[in-house]
Amino acid sequence: MRSVKSSVRSWKPGGMRLAILFVILLQARAVWPQEPAEPRLDKEFDKQEKIYRSRGADVPGGYVTNRGLSDYAELLPKGFCDTLGKLGSSDRWLDIGAGQAQAMLDYYAPEPDAAPAQKCGRSSAKARAVAVSIEDRQTDKWREQAASLGHDRLRYLSGKRLRDYSAEELGKFQIITDVFGGFSYTEHLSQFVDKVLSLLEVGGSFYTLVPGVHLENGKDKLGILYLTELEDAAGRPEKVCSWLKKTTCVQVTCESKSDWKRPTELINIRKVCSDVSVPRLKLWEFEAGYPPSRRFQLEP
Ligand SMILES: C[S@@+](CC[C@H](N)C(=O)[O-])C[C@H]1O[C@@H](n2cnc3c(N)ncnc32)[C@H](O)[C@@H]1O
Repeated sequence: MRSVKSSVRSWKPGGMRLAILFVILLQARAVWPQEPAEPRLDKEFDKQEKIYRSRGADVPGGYVTNRGLSDYAELLPKGFCDTLGKLGSSDRWLDIGAGQAQAMLDYYAPEPDAAPAQKCGRSSAKARAVAVSIEDRQTDKWREQAASLGHDRLRYLSGKRLRDYSAEELGKFQIITDVFGGFSYTEHLSQFVDKVLSLLEVGGSFYTLVPGVHLENGKDKLGILYLTELEDAAGRPEKVCSWLKKTTCVQVTCESKSDWKRPTELINIRKVCSDVSVPRLKLWEFEAGYPPSRRFQLEP
């Protein structure tokens, strides 16, 4: 019989590496549970619903729903304002998670009313705009403007999530935006991206951002509290941008913002052909918030 001593001595470096890998994997599993805890998730989903339904003084200070077009210009990847400005009057713009849809109101504001800094998307022809929000946050100003322009030009849809709309209900779009909307809030991230891309015309662009992520350029500051974390099927950390780049029929560009309060990725996804396939993610953790914190794992 071989003694423990002799078997330790006879270990090859390769065996040692395997053992170390095994310990690392065990530790990774200790951080991420084997199965998402359903009752705990349900509790967090209820809390999230309360945030969506909050009104008046109950709306949490961090749940901002009135960003204007100049905020969109700052928060979305470069190229957004130019693309918006090039749209013709029969083109269509979808804003997912529009809140009060102030950005669309600004877009339709007559030239003299537009603030000087607000030159984003200026053109004489205006695209038809559709705002989607879970909860109805239409303002009187929106209702007036939509009534005067006609609901064919300015439309506000609420009462359900993006995934609950059929292709016929929404139609197709040349440009889709999402500023702290579904992309940052959904618990079904891969299905969300799949839906967005199905609504995009070939040649169209999706502009969004995601805060609190591992940056593509790797320049994250230390001590960051991440909001959206991904791991691959083997349990190794995966970046949001590298996951998105595995999607077929798209060109993904990421602008890493390492000097922002939270490391943030500004993302542009251009659809280049119709056979889109988004690698599936499974939700592992969700903690309500604005935005919520989420952990996903790539399905094998
Ligand atoms: C923090 S507000 C942002 C509003 C606006 N974009 C802004 O920047 O002022 C979040 C918005 O995303 C919406 N939202 C979140 N998840 C969504 C989903 N899956 N489908 C549609 N809307 C969603 C909410 O209903 C709300 O309108």
